[in-house]
Amino acid sequence: MRIPLIAGNWKMYKTPDEAEEFCKKFAELYHGTDIRALLLVPFTSIATVKRCTEGTDILVGAQNVYFEKEGAYTGEISAPMLKALAIDYCIVGHSERRGYFGETDDIVNRKAKALLEEGIRPVICVGESLEIREAGGQNTHVSSQIRADFQGIPEEDAVKCVVAYEPIWAIGTGRTATPLQAGEMCSLIREELISMYGEDAADEIIIQYGGSVKPENITDIMDMPEIDGALVGGASLDPVKFMDIINF
Ligand code: PGA
Repeated sequence: MRIPLIAGNWKMYKTPDEAEEFCKKFAELYHGTDIRALLLVPFTSIATVKRCTEGTDILVGAQNVYFEKEGAYTGEISAPMLKALAIDYCIVGHSERRGYFGETDDIVNRKAKALLEEGIRPVICVGESLEIREAGGQNTHVSSQIRADFQGIPEEDAVKCVVAYEPIWAIGTGRTATPLQAGEMCSLIREELISMYGEDAADEIIIQYGGSVKPENITDIMDMPEIDGALVGGASLDPVKFMDIINF
């Protein structure tokens, strides 16, 4: 039984003070639902958001990690460092990291494994560019991302992962995939996971849709049988909007 998970990806927004302001408002509005809420915040706001959400069932996570445990990697943050902050989840392979910072599937795979080793659940992002979609290559592209990103991850760890299907052409563009398009791709991802791990294990994995999710379109998206939640960027920065999405 998959419990729906709606996550806010703050990206590079909010100072710790701004994060605190958000949390105060969000906690006032939040009364617990059947849906799990997750805030994926910049490293610099993790401690603040953990403190401000203490005693609630709001989950907190990071947006990136480096795969080595420690060493001379100036500017990087390791999975044991994140574990020390008691976070629950961490995004890996967001298309902005793949695009701007050259993250390959191999890197995404190593990051996911490093997190799992510390008991942090990776939110593995996949999705095709507009060019690939227009050429009809989205199924092949996303299937191969899933295979590469999960490579060597055993079944007992795979079930702890979340997959976020985020077509790049729908991120921050206001252009959402239709529920049907999103649902079809999430079904394809489930099929790929079934072929890797079998039906029972694949059935436990949360698959989210991301890309211009807002209060106005969340209901139709969540209606699709293979979509178990959303990864929300822009609309998660506003506590009222994000709560409207969670309470869709
Ligand atoms: P968006 O971002 O909701 O602003 O399109 C989604 C994401 O990048 O995770």
